[in-house]
Amino acid sequence: MPELYLPILLGTIRRGNRTGDVARFVLSRGRRFPEVETRIVDPATLPFANLVEREWEMAERPPEIAGFVDEMARADGFLIVTPEYNYGIPGTLKNLLDLVYDEWNRKPFGLLGVGAIAGGQRAVDQLRVIVAGLGAVSVPRPVAIPRVASSFGPDGPTDDIERVNTTIDGLWRDLIWYARALKVARAADAPA
Ligand SMILES: Cc1cc2nc3c(=O)[nH]c(=O)nc-3n(C[C@H](O)[C@H](O)[C@H](O)COP(=O)(O)O)c2cc1C
Repeated sequence: MPELYLPILLGTIRRGNRTGDVARFVLSRGRRFPEVETRIVDPATLPFANLVEREWEMAERPPEIAGFVDEMARADGFLIVTPEYNYGIPGTLKNLLDLVYDEWNRKPFGLLGVGAIAGGQRAVDQLRVIVAGLGAVSVPRPVAIPRVASSFGPDGPTDDIERVNTTIDGLWRDLIWYARALKVARAADAPA
């Protein structure tokens, strides 16, 4: 049983999105770390659109939501892979993050932006503020994938491959470091 569960949260459900290619490559790199269990959480498989109720306000939780909550509770940290839409994060990702709270609290988030010229940096900057609002911490390392339409394909990076591999592995290593540290800290001191 791997020591840490670190799911990848995909930020979009746009048909034909390119961020999915990046997420699948991030998954393949994450699976090289024996201490990590990971998978892609695709919001398209969850039965919500715009936020109507938070999970704990629902009279009856659909089974997919209950499964999502349990899975996030079990996680030791998260790696968000998201596109930037009009200088911000997709509404889908915000709705997913707003659905629960305790399950994110005091856990680390690795952030990877995908975009055109700016490589999703503005989305990542916004996420740092949002993650603080969740009572969680963001891994400081900035990771951006610019020009995704030409720099990435279904099999991974097509451009500057060594640099992209090193950057993504570095993000995984940092996330692992924070996940370990915060897991020990949470066990020693439960949230008030
Ligand atoms: C609604 C929308 C808005 C976008 N706005 C931005 C943007 O602000 N900055 C940027 O770098 N790319 C922007 N893009 C381009 C995306 O980065 C590009 O589509 C890329 O493929 C990643 O998004 P995807 O996963 O949906 O394909 C936008 C794309 C869409 C669909």
